[in-house]
Amino acid sequence: MPDKVINTTVVGAQWGDEGKGKIIDTLSGKVHLVVRYQGGNNAGHTVYKGRQKYVMHLVPSGILHAKAKCLIASGVVVDPAELLSEIRGLEDSGIRTRGRLFVSEQCHLIFPFHRIYDRLREEKKGFIKIGTTGRGIGPCYSDRALRSGIRLIDLYDEKLFSERLTMSLKEKNEIFRHLYGFKGFSFKKIYDQYRAYATELRPYMADSVQMIQEAMKRRRSILFEGAQGTMLDLDQGTYPFVTSSSTVSGGATVGAGIPPAAIRDVLGVAKAYTTRVGEGPFPTELPASHMEHMRDLGDEFGATTGRARRCGWFDAVVVRYAAGINGFTRLAITKLDVLDSFKTIRIAVAYRFRGKTLKNFPHSITAQREVVPVYESMPGWSSCTSGIRTFDQLPPNARKYIRRISSLVGVPICLVSVGKGRDQVIRCRV
Ligand code: GDP
Ligand code: IMO
Ligand code: MG
Repeated sequence: MPDKVINTTVVGAQWGDEGKGKIIDTLSGKVHLVVRYQGGNNAGHTVYKGRQKYVMHLVPSGILHAKAKCLIASGVVVDPAELLSEIRGLEDSGIRTRGRLFVSEQCHLIFPFHRIYDRLREEKKGFIKIGTTGRGIGPCYSDRALRSGIRLIDLYDEKLFSERLTMSLKEKNEIFRHLYGFKGFSFKKIYDQYRAYATELRPYMADSVQMIQEAMKRRRSILFEGAQGTMLDLDQGTYPFVTSSSTVSGGATVGAGIPPAAIRDVLGVAKAYTTRVGEGPFPTELPASHMEHMRDLGDEFGATTGRARRCGWFDAVVVRYAAGINGFTRLAITKLDVLDSFKTIRIAVAYRFRGKTLKNFPHSITAQREVVPVYESMPGWSSCTSGIRTFDQLPPNARKYIRRISSLVGVPICLVSVGKGRDQVIRCRV
C-alpha cells in the first residue's frame, strides 16, 4: 500500500467475480480494518490460505489475517442465519472471530420472505428475469427504501420488533397469497427465530460509524471491500440487469458512513478477460463452443450459486467506463494465467452500433444488446505464467498485453495475479 495513502477502496471493474477476495486478502496483512459496505450474501469472495479454500459471503476477506479487524457496515444487508453459519465455519477451521469481526447495528436484515419473494418473482411468467442469486437481496433493499425494513438493532427491542414484523407480514402475506398463491408466513416462528439470532449476534454487534471514525482519528489504515462489480451497480450498471446496491466506489461513502474525501485510493480489480453470471447484455461474450474452453481454463463457476459463468474477451470500453465512475487510481489484473494457452488474444477497444462507432458504454438496453465489439488482436505468449513473480520475467507478449490494457483504460496497473494462491501475484507499476 502506498505510504501516504491511508484508505483504499477495492471495487470490481466488470460484472463481479473479478478476484476481489484474493486481492483484498493480499492487501490485508498491513491493514487495521477491512470494511464491507454494500451487498449481502449474494457475494462470494474466494481466498486461499495455503491449500485451504475459504469462500466469504458476508465476512470481509481480511479475516484470515489475525491482526486485521473486520467490519460489516450499515450498507450491507445481512441474513443472520448465513452470517452465523459463516462465523461457525471460520471458527471450526481455527479462525478467531470474537473481538475481530463486527457487524453494524444499523444493518438491514434479510428475512425468509425476502428470499422467497426473490425466487417467486424470478419464476413468475411475464416478470423480468434477472438471474438473481435468490438470496433475497433485492426485496430486502426494497423494504429498506420503502421504510418497512427491520435492522439488527431493532431485534433487541421486543415491542418495536414485534410491531414492525406484524406490519411487514400483514403486507407480505397479502401479496404472497394473492399474487403467488403462496400460503404466507407465521409471525411466531420468525419472531422466535430472529430473537434467537439476536442473542447469538450480540457479541458481534457494533456502532460501525463510531468504529470507523475512531480508526480514522488514529490514522489507522482502512480497506473498503466492494462486492459485485461496477456493471452491476444499481445506477451505473446495465440496468435492470443489476444488483440492488451501489457497487461503485461512491457506495463506500454511503454504505460505511464516511465523507467522500476520506478515500484517496481506489483500486479497481479486473479479470484479464470478462465474465458475467445471470442475465443481461454482455458485448464481448464468446459463442458457446469457445466460451466453454475459457470457462474450463478459468474454472468459471459461481462461488455463491455454482452457476456456470458466461465468458468473453477483455472489454476495454467497460473497464474504461468503470475507471471514470470509480476514479480508479490503480488497477489489479487477475487471472492472466488463464490466457496462457491462447494463440491470439482479443481486446474490445470500441463498439459498432447501427453504422456508428461508440467509444463509450451506451445506456440504452437495446444498444447494450446489439453493439458489436471492435477488436484488437494480440499474439498470445503460449507459456505458463503461474510461477512468475516479477513483471520483467513475464513473456514479452504478456507484458505487451498488460501495458495495452493500462493504456486503453488510462489507469496504471499495480498488481497482476497469475494463480489462485496467495503468493501468485506480481507487484508492478505499468
Ligand atoms: P470475487 O467475487 O471478485 O472475490 O471473485 P470470486 O472469488 O467469485 O472468483 C474469482 C475466482 O478466481 C476464484 O475461484 C479465485 O480463487 C480465482 N482466482 C483469483 N485470482 C486468480 C488468478 O490470478 N488466477 C486463477 N487461475 N484464478 C484466480
Ligand atoms: P461478487 O461480490 C457476480 C449478479 C447475479 C444477478 C444480479 C442480481 O462475488 O463479485 P442479486 O442476487 O444481487 O439480486 O442478483 O447480480 N450478482 C453477482 N454476479 N458476482 C457477484 O458478487 C454477484 N452478486 C450478484 O448473478 O445477475
Ligand atoms: Mg464472487
